[in-house]
Parts: sequence; structure tokens; C-alpha cells
Amino acid sequence: MAVYVGAWIVLLALCVHSGAGQMVQMDSVKSGFVGATVELKCIFVNSNPPVKISQVTWQKLTNGTKQNLAIANPALGISVLAPFKERVSFKQDLKKTPSLEDTTIVFSNLRLSDDAAYICEYTTFPAGNRENMVNLSVFARPRTSLALTSSTIVARASSRKTTVATCISANGKPTSVIKWDTLLKGEFDFKETTNANGTVTVRSNYMVIPSSKMHKMKLTCIVRYRNEHITDSVVLNVQYEPEVTIEGFDGNWYLNRQDVKLTCNANANPPVTVYQWKLLNGSMPTNVEVKNNSLFFKGPVTYEQAGAYVCEATNNIGRRTGSVEVNITEFPSIPTTRSTNIEAEPHKTGLVIGSVAGGLALLVLLAVLLFVYLRHRQRIFKGDYNTKKHVFGNGYSKAGGVPAHPPLPKNLQYTEDSDDEKKPAQVIGQGGFEGRERDFDGETEDLKRPYFTVDEGESRDYDERTLAFQYDAEAEIADDMISQTDGSVISKKEWYV
Ligand SMILES: *[C@@H]1O[C@H](CO)[C@@H](O)[C@H](O)[C@H]1NC(C)=O
Ligand SMILES: *[C@@H]1O[C@H](CO)[C@@H](O)[C@H](O)[C@H]1NC(C)=O
Ligand SMILES: *[C@@H]1O[C@H](CO)[C@@H](O)[C@H](O)[C@H]1NC(C)=O
Ligand SMILES: *[C@@H]1O[C@H](CO)[C@@H](O)[C@H](O)[C@H]1NC(C)=O
Ligand SMILES: *[C@@H]1O[C@H](CO)[C@@H](O)[C@H](O)[C@H]1NC(C)=O
Ligand SMILES: *[C@@H]1O[C@H](CO)[C@@H](O)[C@H](O)[C@H]1NC(C)=O
Repeated sequence: MAVYVGAWIVLLALCVHSGAGQMVQMDSVKSGFVGATVELKCIFVNSNPPVKISQVTWQKLTNGTKQNLAIANPALGISVLAPFKERVSFKQDLKKTPSLEDTTIVFSNLRLSDDAAYICEYTTFPAGNRENMVNLSVFARPRTSLALTSSTIVARASSRKTTVATCISANGKPTSVIKWDTLLKGEFDFKETTNANGTVTVRSNYMVIPSSKMHKMKLTCIVRYRNEHITDSVVLNVQYEPEVTIEGFDGNWYLNRQDVKLTCNANANPPVTVYQWKLLNGSMPTNVEVKNNSLFFKGPVTYEQAGAYVCEATNNIGRRTGSVEVNITEFPSIPTTRSTNIEAEPHKTGLVIGSVAGGLALLVLLAVLLFVYLRHRQRIFKGDYNTKKHVFGNGYSKAGGVPAHPPLPKNLQYTEDSDDEKKPAQVIGQGGFEGRERDFDGETEDLKRPYFTVDEGESRDYDERTLAFQYDAEAEIADDMISQTDGSVISKKEWYV
């Protein structure tokens, strides 16, 4: 027994040694779509000493079991076995080249069940068997779809989380990945099912709590399949009861003012069918005329017109009201153009005065610092006087123009000519909508930084340079800047810091 095993080892070693030059060349992986045709390469590299090929066998390897596919024998010819007969053939006409060095097969009309490893085995003399393997992947393109759950959604105060759209990537292989891209605030789920034939169906529902704000908003599904992106979009149609506001009362309806009116504005889907006006605790003044959604007060204003006016707007979804409290004064209030939210003014004015005082102190400090800074620069500046430098950060960078902040990525820098504020690329897809929602609300963190514009013109006279603090490159200098005694200009916004 021991002798037998020993002999085997020697034989094996011999085989490996003597067979160093002989090998079967194949691709390691190959792929094709269902229905396509692929070539599975198999070439015997026959070096010295010449060997005799007695047979070549192609086998399919599934789950560790081998199934013969095709056999080529120099003496007996070729044989393609039963389930593969119509779809598999040898690429070379082996009757013309019976050496069998190239036994590449052509596999046509691929099926999902062909996804397996294939072995090409050479039986030779005296070298023995040589084989190699190719893994064949069969792909199935998924059928993708995006559909609204229903053509219209009704938003009510009592609305709960509902699925508004479903994105499906059906029967794909390999598996697709679904992502959503939308400004709609919502949630999504994923469900994967594997079919018997090895394909996978991926399904994702998008859920929201319907609200009127979602009307006409877009929802995009992105299916990533292999290296492709298949996108599809839907637009929500949300129905909601009227959201009513009344326009026209400016808080300055005085006796004998002419031609005043109230207008009932309703944001509604579907549109409002009926507007109704009421005067709380009273009847409508005689001189009013109702036209569509407006209430025209004919002739001069009288005390009789004071009261709480209510507009009720109705559409198919429901009815809501808006109201306005109209009071009549004897004389016009001054200034006559002031609009309603007067109570906010005193507070604001106080703030401004406080800010001005604080701002002045700050300003003096800044001017001193600035002076010191410029003096310092003047002494050591040796650069090109025709260049314009933007110093990012607090502006008090070290002499020589080294920015106080680490250099910003290129796309976050302001360029000389562009006022566009650069935002980092938005993240889309999975979980991305939270961030986008914030974007939508305009709460994105401002990337704006204050900076100095030190225009180093021909002159070395620093007093003539323009020095500006700017929070917003788009701000109008004329409105927002305040001239300083030293000729510089400073942003008003700075005063409120
Ligand atoms: C492969 O093996 C798994 C379990 O090990 C079995 O479920 C499956 O049907 C097998 N496939 C084939 C083609 O025999
Ligand atoms: C080919 O498939 C077999 C299993 O069928 C696996 O063990 C092997 O790693 C695969 N080879 C390549 C190159 O993918
Ligand atoms: C795979 O199976 C699914 C579900 O049975 C079927 O709808 C699909 O057409 C099949 N795909 C192929 C390529 O046969
Ligand atoms: C209307 O009249 C009711 C009682 O009739 C009273 O409670 C309510 O405060 C009045 N509303 C206004 C706006 O005057
Ligand atoms: C008011 O309604 C009439 C019909 O009742 C219509 O012809 C007119 O265009 C409407 N005007 C406005 C401003 O909606
Ligand atoms: C008149 O109405 C306005 C706004 O509704 C309110 O701010 C103001 O105090 C009222 N004036 C009087 C005298 O009631």
C-alpha cells in the first residue's frame, strides 16, 4: 500500500515536471446576456516534447457535479450532448484540423441556467490530463418601472404616512440597486426577492405624509444596474382644501378713503369653486359689491365698514376660511405707505440704534487694527503691485499674504469675476433627501466668508485703497456699505455682529 502511494507521488511529481510546458488556455471569466452568444475559449499549448491529444471533453460544473457538454475525439469525431445540442458548437471545423489544439466552443442563445463554470479537459499521452475552467455569468436585464400609487393624493390634517410611488427593478441579474432623488420629505423601504431562475426583483416604496406643499413635486427613482443608471420620474398631484388669506387691508383705512377692496386668495387644488364673504357679528355694508373672490367697497370709507371679514373658500376637498379685522381711523396714519406689521417696528428700531452704538465702537477698533495692519504690510510688501489679493478668513492674515485659513478647495473659492456662490455637490440618493430637504428650506450652511479685497494698484498710498468686508458677494455695495473717514468702506452687516 505504502509503495503504491509512493509511486503515485512520484508519478504526480513527474507529471507536473514534464508537463510544465503544456497547458490549457482559457479565459477565467466570461459573461453574456440572456439570448446572446459567447465564445468559450480553450486552447492547448503544446510545447516540446510533443504530446498526443487523445480526447477533449467540455464539462459544465454546477454545485460540484459535472455534466458532459461536448466531446471531441480525433478518431471518432465530435459529439455535443443532449440539452446543448442546438446551442453549442465547436468554433473550428475539427474535421479539417483534427489536431484539436483549439477546441473553443460557441455558446448561443444563452439561458440563465447556463450560468456555471465550464471545464475544458485535455486527455493526452504521455503527459496525462490537463484542464482549465471558465466561469460563465449570464446576465438578465431588469425591467424597471416607477409608478404613482394613485394619480392624485389627498392631503388632510389627519393624513398619515402613505406610499406615493413604487420603483421596481424586476428580474435582473446581477441585482440592481434602487436610489431615490427628490426634495420630498419622506421615507423609503427596500424589498428583494430572488426568483427561481436566479434573477432578483428589487422593489422600493416611497412614503410621505401628504401635504399641500408636495403638490407638483418631483420624485426620481434611479436604478443602478451593473454600470448603468436608469432614471425615471413622477410628479405628485396632491389635492388639498383651500389655504385662505385675505389681502387688501393695509391698516390704514381712514374716513373718506376711496376704492378700497378685500381680496380672498386661496391656494387650492382643485381650484376653489365657491367664495363666500361674511362680516362677523354684523351684516355686510350696503355699498359693497362681491365679484368673484373680491369685495369692492364703493365710494368713500365709512365707520360702518369696520369689523371682522371672513372669506370662506370651498373646493372638492373641503372648505376653509380666512379673516381680517378691519378698523377705520378718522385720519390717515403717517407714514401712509406703512403696511400692517407695525408692532414689529419699535423693536427693530431699538435694535438698530443699539447696533449702531455697538457697531461704532467695533468700527473704531477695526480702523485701528486696519491701520496697524496696513502699516505693517507697507513696510514688508515686496510683491507685484498690480495684483489683487483676496485674503480669506478674518482678514488679519500674516504679512506676505499667507491665508489665515487653510486653502479652500477650488470650487469653494470666489473668483474675481463670478458672484456665484459655490455650493458643494449635492448628495443624492439613499438617505440623501434629508440633506436636500434642508437645502430646499434654504438652511444650508453658508459657505460665505468675510474677506478683504486689497486692491494693490499703482499707488503705494494705502489710504486710497478699497477695503471691504463682505459677507455676501452679491450684496450691493452702494446699499450695504458705509464710508469711513479714512476712505475705506465697511459693510453695514458688520455692525450687527
Ligand atoms: C445546487 O445546490 C443547492 C443546495 O446545495 C440546491 O438548492 C440547488 O437546487 C442545486 N442546483 C442545481 C442546479 O442542482
Ligand atoms: C469560478 O466559480 C467557482 C465556483 O463555481 C469559484 O470557486 C471560483 O472562484 C470562480 N472563479 C473566478 C475566477 O471567478
Ligand atoms: C426569471 O423568472 C421570473 C419570475 O418567474 C420571470 O418573470 C423572468 O422572465 C425569468 N427570466 C428569464 C430571463 O427567464
Ligand atoms: C360676536 O358676538 C359674540 C356673541 O354674540 C361674541 O362672543 C363675540 O366676541 C363677537 N365677536 C366679535 C369679533 O365681535
Ligand atoms: C370673475 O368671474 C367672471 C364670471 O363670473 C369671469 O368672467 C371673470 O373673468 C372673473 N374675473 C376674475 C378676475 O377672476
Ligand atoms: C387696527 O388694526 C390693526 C391691524 O389689524 C391693529 O394693529 C390696530 O391696533 C388696530 N387699531 C385699532 C385702533 O383698533
